[in-house]
Amino acid sequence: MYDLYNRKINYLRISVTDRCNLRCRYCMPAEGIPLLKHDDILRFDEIVEFTRVAVAMGINKVRITGGEPLVRKGIVELTQMLASIAGIDDLGMTTNGIFLDRFALPLAEAGLQRVNISLDTLDEEKYHQITRRGKLSDALRGIAVADGAGLHPIKLNCVVKKNGLEPDAESVRRFAEAHGYQVRYIPQMDLAEGTFGRVQGGEGGHCSSCNRLRLTSDGKILPCLFSNISYDIRELGAEKAIEMALQNKPLSGTTNKTSCFSNIGG
Ligand code: 5AD
Ligand code: SF4
Repeated sequence: MYDLYNRKINYLRISVTDRCNLRCRYCMPAEGIPLLKHDDILRFDEIVEFTRVAVAMGINKVRITGGEPLVRKGIVELTQMLASIAGIDDLGMTTNGIFLDRFALPLAEAGLQRVNISLDTLDEEKYHQITRRGKLSDALRGIAVADGAGLHPIKLNCVVKKNGLEPDAESVRRFAEAHGYQVRYIPQMDLAEGTFGRVQGGEGGHCSSCNRLRLTSDGKILPCLFSNISYDIRELGAEKAIEMALQNKPLSGTTNKTSCFSNIGG
């Protein structure tokens, strides 16, 4: 499917929860964010049905995000349900990696193809300071188990102030090189202020070739991360909501004052 600017839209990012076990400073306040009500969160059958329609309309690449997707109860079953939709060529997940030690293997068996894992530094104290409650050793163990489970290529998401030349970014690069992982440097963004940057080593932030739609955990389809525009899939139905998102996908991003990273998943 194509939008009004002739961009081919084939990539759907699905946020399966707004909850997270960490509180990264660039993503959430220390006390967390007001959580969505249980009834507002899409059920598995709703997510799967929406994805089926999206795939029939031209989506062939799907990423499961959060919040932290691994805190959603039944995530392995949901992954298996998504993996069994014919027409998805690339099924990935973005996770902070803390719970990958127990989930990587079942997820791989369920049909997940690969993972992107957040890793901003290799300094234990700094990791704890950035995430406010994470242990670097847990993330590193998660990465190793994902590697062993064959969730390749493993990509590390490294949020940077400016670019990949910062000391923490360099340490992540060296770690990645030593293990055969890829690194994507993501400039720290502010949705409300409209500060966004291009992902170094990835596709994000290149508006002219943007191929994405996003589904929030409460069933809103967002045509652009940096826009307030959203369409409710429960109100409109999947097909109509996707069509509206296509027709209204902005040429480039501006600001988003209604959502935050924790409920869009980047
Ligand atoms: N700026 C850039 N990236 C962010 N993420 C979360 N908050 C921000 C932000 N303010 C990204 C991180 C993380 C992913 C889930 O979302 O890269 O790995
Ligand atoms: Fe959680 Fe990811 Fe946000 Fe960190 S960036 S608080 S791991 S959702």
